[in-house]
Amino acid sequence: MTPNTNILCFGAAHFDRTLQCTETFVPAASNPVRTLHRKPGGVSRNIAVHLRLLGNNVAMLGAVGDDGDGDQVIESLSDIGIDTRHVMKIKDVATAGYTALLDETGELALGMMNAEVYDMLSIDRLQPHLANLLARPWWLIDANLPTESIQWLAENKGTSKFCAATVSPSKAGRFKNVLDKVDLLIANRAETRVLTGIDITSLDQAKRAVELLRSTGIPDVIITLGAQGVVSSSGSKIAFWPPLPTKVKDVNGAGDAFYSGFLSAYAKPKTNFDTAMASGLAMASLTAETEGTTVWDVSQEALATRAEHAESTPL
Ligand SMILES: Nc1ncnc2c1ncn2[C@@H]1O[C@H](COP(=O)(O)OP(=O)(O)OP(=O)(O)O)[C@@H](O)[C@H]1O
Ligand SMILES: [Mg+2]
Repeated sequence: MTPNTNILCFGAAHFDRTLQCTETFVPAASNPVRTLHRKPGGVSRNIAVHLRLLGNNVAMLGAVGDDGDGDQVIESLSDIGIDTRHVMKIKDVATAGYTALLDETGELALGMMNAEVYDMLSIDRLQPHLANLLARPWWLIDANLPTESIQWLAENKGTSKFCAATVSPSKAGRFKNVLDKVDLLIANRAETRVLTGIDITSLDQAKRAVELLRSTGIPDVIITLGAQGVVSSSGSKIAFWPPLPTKVKDVNGAGDAFYSGFLSAYAKPKTNFDTAMASGLAMASLTAETEGTTVWDVSQEALATRAEHAESTPL
């Protein structure tokens, strides 16, 4: 593996747990459960890991608690060669985590996200790192960072490219005041609605949303539309890309995977936008064919072969 790009991923890295009731779910009571799985998650982590598995030189800036989970988060990243020197261990706070409780039939009964530790990624904590951060030409910022820190990073990005990952509809709005400083935005339908007010139910509406976002000054905008594909805008072109033929197994993390595939290609010198789009679609497709969010055995070759089938039509 030859490290070939300097990408710094800011944001969430934690564990996701799924528990299932072994008897009928009763709210406000003690329910017997079994643990179905505990897996690493977090948007920035998901993107960083695929970037690294694709051979990039990747660092992560995030926050964990001073607990066992935190150590495991750091270890799981450094084990694959991600630079974790900017992952802060914060005292007296728990490492973040998402816990899903399924009822006895397998339907979600309750979802709980503890993301308190990410609120601690304040400007005061980021400031001492700035000189080192500026040495990385590509910044991937996930919306788990506090709004003020996102704003501060956007104002202090220097020549680094500011790539925004919107995370969820509830957090996407954190980029609203910095859109004029964003270099690349990739968002799904619901997140785009938060940023534009446009409800995307057709390609025409997707096109309008992309135009609106471009008019704020963002050079490259991509809206992912799940099984329908992607709409992109760069330079003077707006295009629709259908998804690649995929034997779908689990679409969880396909959006994050799209980001990794796109950025892995786009961050390389002289890669054009359309080649990066094909790489994003290919990484999303390979991830949708895999159980879980990570394609541990991904290779540049497999990605390139899948990407060959990508095609776009102008909108
Ligand atoms: N059912 C599917 N079949 C083929 N490709 C898919 C399917 N679902 C998603 N994809 C691919 O993954 C890309 C991203 O999916 P989507 O728009 O659902 O992202 P997302 O909502 O951010 O997902 P997540 O947050 O779970 O990662 C799509 O643009 C498409 O290329
Ligand atoms: Mg997503």
